Amino acid sequence: MSIAFFDGRFMPLDEVRVSPLDRGYLFGDGVYEVVPVYAGRPFRMEEHLDRLDRSMDAIELAAPFPRERWRELLAELVKRNGGGEQSIYFQVTRGVAPRSHAFPVDAPPVVFMMSRAGGGGTPKPAAAITREDNRWDRCDIKSIALLANCLHKQAAVKAGASEAILLRGDVLTEGSSSNVFVVKGGQVSTPPKSSRILAGITRAVTLELMAQAGIPARERPVSRGELAGADEIWITSSTLEISPVVTLDGAAVGGCEPGPVWRTVHELLQGLKRSLKAA
Ligand code: PDD
Repeated sequence: MSIAFFDGRFMPLDEVRVSPLDRGYLFGDGVYEVVPVYAGRPFRMEEHLDRLDRSMDAIELAAPFPRERWRELLAELVKRNGGGEQSIYFQVTRGVAPRSHAFPVDAPPVVFMMSRAGGGGTPKPAAAITREDNRWDRCDIKSIALLANCLHKQAAVKAGASEAILLRGDVLTEGSSSNVFVVKGGQVSTPPKSSRILAGITRAVTLELMAQAGIPARERPVSRGELAGADEIWITSSTLEISPVVTLDGAAVGGCEPGPVWRTVHELLQGLKRSLKAA
């Protein structure tokens, strides 16, 4: 049984008991992060903690710990779960209080953290469908209220795919649990950061690696037509890494094979991971 951290202490995951009055449980009132761990170290931890701070600020949730305590807790959780490659999920909810929509005055936030064994593994070629993005307009907040995302993901699964790529009208936003890149004629594009998408850490790493390698990439609005006509589509996340999409709505993307630009950028990320192991 993996070791979790809940409400101030470490314990086996199956011993964690949540109050039904926790606002996370009743209202989805909380925010979260997912951090991949490579070579026993949380990857891009500061960026994840920065984003958590932004999410907490956005929902007026007081930080339960100073930054240094987060670092210690993450390191301890990784250690207690055997180091190596794993994935850490952690969330902060607004705490336990009588059910009332307005924020409670003095409920301490509740922190839950757990580890999943293994890292992302090798990204697999993915099938995706497109769906209308009917979520709210604060998708930049990494909220635990993910019902809309779950409905989109489930529609993808029902269609025999693994991701739903979302569009607001004619404009690409992101996947139900990923960011999206398109490649056309060697030019890589991804939608710009806005309140309509989550500012993915893997998205940022992907852009950074391409900039270092001199691969042209732009953050700019991408239309439905560009998505449908792309030579390559990738989805990125902390658990998927950079995954190639090989069919979209049942039609082949780039001859149904991961493309050459994906191969290069994927290899850059694997190189970065290897260098972390060697460090
Ligand atoms: N989700 N967009 C959405 C809606 C996401 O849920 C995620 C990640 C991303 C990619 O963000 P990052 O590269 O920082 O992981 C983009 C996580 C993995 C999840 O909910 O499990």
